[in-house]
Amino acid sequence: MRRRRSAGCCGRAWPSDRVYGAGAEAERSARTVLNVGAGAGSYEPRDRDVTPVEPSATMRAQRPAGLAPAVDATAESLPFDDDTFDAAMTTFSVHQWGDLAAGLAEVRRVTRGPVVVLTCDPALLERFWLAEYAPEVIATEARRYPESEVIGTLLGRGAVVGSVPIPLDCTDGFGEAYDGRPERLLEPEVRAAMSAWSFVGDAVHARFVRDLGADLGSGAWDARPGHLRTQPTFEGSLVLVVAG
Ligand SMILES: C[S@@+](CC[C@H](N)C(=O)[O-])C[C@H]1O[C@@H](n2cnc3c(N)ncnc32)[C@H](O)[C@@H]1O
Repeated sequence: MRRRRSAGCCGRAWPSDRVYGAGAEAERSARTVLNVGAGAGSYEPRDRDVTPVEPSATMRAQRPAGLAPAVDATAESLPFDDDTFDAAMTTFSVHQWGDLAAGLAEVRRVTRGPVVVLTCDPALLERFWLAEYAPEVIATEARRYPESEVIGTLLGRGAVVGSVPIPLDCTDGFGEAYDGRPERLLEPEVRAAMSAWSFVGDAVHARFVRDLGADLGSGAWDARPGHLRTQPTFEGSLVLVVAG
């Protein structure tokens, strides 16, 4: 499998373009797109015939008007015939599947063309300065996410893994989106929006807020990763696996 340096990020306003740019590019010639683990529809193309699949009733209910209602199913058992879709996508979902290999085989079975997976690569999580302040959160993430090389191998068909640069002002709410805005991570509601923080105890939250708060106050944080405050993009653990 090839590993590509950068999958690109075109910097337009909608999150799907800013973070999912190369995924959207891979789906460009597709008319019909399957979105597995679609959730509320983030990154879902608005200009394609999208079939969302989402097993959680709570998430299905959060889909905004204007997006197609989601089919109640799991990746491991997709209720579609072979080669139904031109392309398939799944974003921030594969780490929650009960059986990754079975899920990807199903996605491959029902898709004629490219399959695009947006996920975190556990081997790259240490790039984020958070590893110094909250190693428990990074360790939690590392345990949850499958290796991108494994995803690519399971998908086959010349899969390519590309790094996804995260814009400095990214509003998508995952941890690395705040790499250049550390103060935001001191806000409990910002951390509450990231599932990894729900797996660590109150003591970790308290220590993190104390230590990062102190380093921001003293200038110690700015003396080290402070350049991230103005760096236009950050290449952390976010990757796009694209299989033809
Ligand atoms: C973190 S959310 C991501 C939602 C959306 N794709 C996004 O990027 O915002 C993960 C989603 O995967 C769904 N999911 C969990 N297990 C699944 C499975 N076995 N098959 C399909 N989707 C699953 C969850 O219900 C949840 O909506």
